[in-house]
Amino acid sequence: MRVLLTGGAGFVGSNLALKMLQDGHEIVAADNLYLGKLRFLEPCHKFPAFNFVQADLLDLDNTIKLCRGCDIVIHLAANSDISLGRQKTDLDLQLGYLTTYNLLEGMRIENVPEIIFASSSAIYGEADVVPTPESFGPLCPISLYGASKLAAEGLITAFAHNFGKKAWIFRFGNVIGPNVTHGIFYDFVNRLRSDSSKLRILGDGRQAKPYIHVTDLISGILFAHQNSSSEINIFNLATSGNSSVKFIADTIVEEMGLNGIPYEFTGTAKGWIGDVAKVALDVSRLGNLGWKTKLTSDEAIRLAAKEVVSQFKCGIYS
Ligand SMILES: NC(=O)c1ccc[n+]([C@@H]2O[C@H](COP(=O)([O-])OP(=O)(O)OC[C@H]3O[C@@H](n4cnc5c(N)ncnc54)[C@H](O)[C@@H]3O)[C@@H](O)[C@H]2O)c1
Repeated sequence: MRVLLTGGAGFVGSNLALKMLQDGHEIVAADNLYLGKLRFLEPCHKFPAFNFVQADLLDLDNTIKLCRGCDIVIHLAANSDISLGRQKTDLDLQLGYLTTYNLLEGMRIENVPEIIFASSSAIYGEADVVPTPESFGPLCPISLYGASKLAAEGLITAFAHNFGKKAWIFRFGNVIGPNVTHGIFYDFVNRLRSDSSKLRILGDGRQAKPYIHVTDLISGILFAHQNSSSEINIFNLATSGNSSVKFIADTIVEEMGLNGIPYEFTGTAKGWIGDVAKVALDVSRLGNLGWKTKLTSDEAIRLAAKEVVSQFKCGIYS
């Protein structure tokens, strides 16, 4: 398969590119390097079937050209920092929604038949059914990021229906592992490296979310793509249980040999406005197809803590 992988230099993208190259696919990774890093793609360059294109998906003409000759678009590019939406209110509109429109338009014009889209549990907002199934509604996101993902899902289903495309929409839980570009693992390790005398934690530490390791996430995406074939295929993709922010702090602090340092909680139940403090996803739809994660949420955290701390030591982020 010739794959256009957007956000290819980002966290999930760089891991997915490598796995799909190993599986024998041809990858065109497109990224404007807003958050992604070329360094993450170094292992991909030994594959002749790998191509990196520095491109901004907000450029419609160029995005149409990128779609030419591809069998599938895997659309990961987005703003991935949820809290930033409050400071720059058109960020998610641009990077989450308009990039999706441009790709769908490119697929329509260049006859690309399939799309895989990285959506998020943020579309559920503060759902009153927990664990939350894919059928939950009405959907009332509480972040501009969640709103842009929900809007993009709608655009994808409408394009698929009108122009004969197939779509796989994955509502990810929190994803962790090597090459993280943002989020709690990145922040905690980064902060502790600059000041190891204490750790500031947004919220009260009791926020609880499902953390899936990126290798499990990729296995789930590829499995669902192979084993479902409706016009629209929507899956929660997460671990079945969840873990607390305090557990992540403890695990990272232990991994860095800093046991006993004090935590400073900012005190509220939410990390920030727009944060959904308690998330649990019903993952039985994908489970019923015969797939489950190898690692639990706690196991994923332990592994990712080792990986991210070691990557910081190796200087991959400097
Ligand atoms: N990581 C998670 O926990 C998580 C959870 C839920 C959903 N998601 C979604 O999964 C996808 C991948 O997330 P990630 O963690 O790898 O994020 P990431 O920020 O590491 O990767 C996104 C990439 O998109 C690129 N990008 C942004 N705007 C672009 C544009 N206009 N043109 C070209 N490239 C652009 C960035 O440079 C970055 O490399 C995102 O859509 C994110 O919203 C991630």
